[in-house]
Amino acid sequence: MKRVLSGMQSSGQLTIGNYIGALRNYVKLQHLHQCFFMVVDMHAITVPQEPAALREQTEMAAALYVAAGLDPNKATIFLQSHVSAHAELGWIMTTLTNMGELERMTQFKDKAEGKDSVGAGLFTYPSLMAADILLYNADIIPVGDDQKQHLELTRDLANRFNNRFGEYFTMPEAYMPEVGARIMSLDDASKKMSKSSPNPGSFIGMLDEPDVIRKKLSRAVTDSGREVKFDPQNKREVSNLMSIYSHFAEMSLVEIEAKYEGQGYGPFKKDLAEQIVAVLEPIQQRYKEIRRSGEIHDVLKKGAQEAAEVANQTLLEVKKRMGF
Ligand code: ADP
Ligand code: NA
Repeated sequence: MKRVLSGMQSSGQLTIGNYIGALRNYVKLQHLHQCFFMVVDMHAITVPQEPAALREQTEMAAALYVAAGLDPNKATIFLQSHVSAHAELGWIMTTLTNMGELERMTQFKDKAEGKDSVGAGLFTYPSLMAADILLYNADIIPVGDDQKQHLELTRDLANRFNNRFGEYFTMPEAYMPEVGARIMSLDDASKKMSKSSPNPGSFIGMLDEPDVIRKKLSRAVTDSGREVKFDPQNKREVSNLMSIYSHFAEMSLVEIEAKYEGQGYGPFKKDLAEQIVAVLEPIQQRYKEIRRSGEIHDVLKKGAQEAAEVANQTLLEVKKRMGF
């Protein structure tokens, strides 16, 4: 059986981008492979976090995993900070990483741009991500294309370790969701929709109330035309909304074009809101039950035990080979 590992940062409320691009696939993968899905709360602190907010966002993300359909009896669901081997192998990977490799990371350049002060953790983040993956000797890593460069580094580090200390790590492969699974921002379709955006109108949160979803969509930027037509070159915003529609309604772009022919953007945006609400409402309902019952704590405790069992064994072997 192949091993799958992936995770999301708890740096804000999960968005429909996280759902379409990641979480929805996690739910499918749990039936096919041995899966480890974590909330990477130690990555979240590479930018400053307020303690109460971090705790809430981390628990929220884990509860959303379960509410969206991850089953703790099928997949290992845990918090990165609960398994201390991540920090330990993270340090070891940092020592195997060259400065130049980190300097080339486009995500670091993007995130550091224009800031007066940037934490060293934001710079060394890809080494910790390598540790996250290698601790489980994972074969398949579901990632968005924004993470491709980091995964390449993980493979380089695995190779470097294997060459210096003897063949040990499995070479992880990226698993990309289908084309079009990149959801763009509602206020600027040149940026990906992100939970860390300062403008809440730019994303739809998985926990947004139906009326908030309706309002955000009615305000979503569109061009001055009125034709619902998929044309990412000339009609970027409408094309993004159409691709969201297609994911939520499970309709093809051609079917959507036909349905809204001659109707303008108004009815299309209204229906899109209802399609999203229809998918999110049952998830939100389960989410509330999970938070109310407190069962997420048991899920995370079980997950941490399962994860630590695998991770600690890897760490022990790595340390032995390195001379500790
Ligand atoms: P964010 O950018 O919202 O902070 P993360 O970096 O925590 O998200 O990413 C978690 C997962 O969600 C990754 O697999 C990432 O590729 C996916 N993801 C994040 N934003 C989007 C998006 N707008 N469209 C598709 N997938 C996304
Ligand atoms: Na991110």
